[in-house]
Amino acid sequence: MPDSTAIPLSQRPDMTVFLNGEFIPADQARVGIMTHALSYGTGCFEGIRGYWNPKAEELYLFRLREHYKRLHDSCRITNIGLPYSVDELIEITAELVRRNGFRENCYVRPFAYKSDEIIGVRLNDLTNHFTMFTTQMGDYIATDGLRCGVSSWRRVDDNMIPARAKIAGAYVNSAFAKTEALQNGFDEAIMLTAEGHVSEGSAENIFLRFGDELVTPPPSENILLGVTRDTIMRLAQRELGHVVRERVVDRTELYIADEIFLTGTGAQLAPVIEVDHRPVGSGAVGSMTADLVRLYHEVVRGQRAEYSDWLTPVYGAQGKATNGAHATNGAHAANGANGAHAIGAKPAKATSAGRREDAGAGRPKK
Ligand SMILES: Cc1ncc(COP(=O)(O)O)c(C=O)c1O
Repeated sequence: MPDSTAIPLSQRPDMTVFLNGEFIPADQARVGIMTHALSYGTGCFEGIRGYWNPKAEELYLFRLREHYKRLHDSCRITNIGLPYSVDELIEITAELVRRNGFRENCYVRPFAYKSDEIIGVRLNDLTNHFTMFTTQMGDYIATDGLRCGVSSWRRVDDNMIPARAKIAGAYVNSAFAKTEALQNGFDEAIMLTAEGHVSEGSAENIFLRFGDELVTPPPSENILLGVTRDTIMRLAQRELGHVVRERVVDRTELYIADEIFLTGTGAQLAPVIEVDHRPVGSGAVGSMTADLVRLYHEVVRGQRAEYSDWLTPVYGAQGKATNGAHATNGAHAANGANGAHAIGAKPAKATSAGRREDAGAGRPKK
């Protein structure tokens, strides 16, 4: 399979994307240059990972249900009508990945957005469209120890652009912080709230260890409620017996913590070994962080049966029987193998938040 970073997705006839109720070749997906979301950032998205387990010959999509519940919440906040239920989104995602035939780690990006080609910024009385693509993905940021800098850019407030919604336009705030960090020689930014409390990284939540206690800022600190954050809180408590507390964190606590790590779908679990040129703990990756990294990687790859509810297997028995088709390309070869798989794919014609039009479950056009 060609390196997805070398050829833009829009030039890949061999890749399948989902756009307005149809699975189509990626090079046929067109979005107008006047699109509202392109001009104003009026869209909500998710970032989801799939992990390939070579022994099981299975690709596991991680915590789809939680990602799609959050997408629904983001859309409610942003007045974007999403024409698919959580269950339908899960089915569309599995089908999309199947059609692309990945037998390696991948990433899925669903995006619900205002599609009108008009001038004028608002959220009401506009058309909502939905698209989804998938691509191969390795590690997003270094996982052997990050050097972070506290950003001079403050995190957007709930009454500015709500951080609990994953809104496309809000990522300019993250981009300012990340750019400043990189240009100052750091690997990643840590953002503070307007009040000066620790909020999160540019695209990650943050955890600090003090003794046996793991601390992370609460939802009121303008964080995105991360799926990985929730995963780590549960694993730290259940598997390792640590106390996990959500509480307000001061900037200077970053300088005295025993361990710090960032969590996110992209970053996974990334140890922080330095903040503002001060070593975190001993300056090496801490033992609690290392334990959680190990555990997390086992869970997402389906090596811990007790967490299998968090995983959506893409291929299942059917996929293993038709590996040949999936191994090459999905766009067309996988269609036959998946013909029996009914999906509630519908044209996205909802025009206002929460309202679902054309709600009857139908099979997508092939
Ligand atoms: C701003 C921000 N915070 C936190 C996260 C982590 O969220 P999750 O673990 O659900 O990927 C992300 C990742 O998308 C993010 O963009």
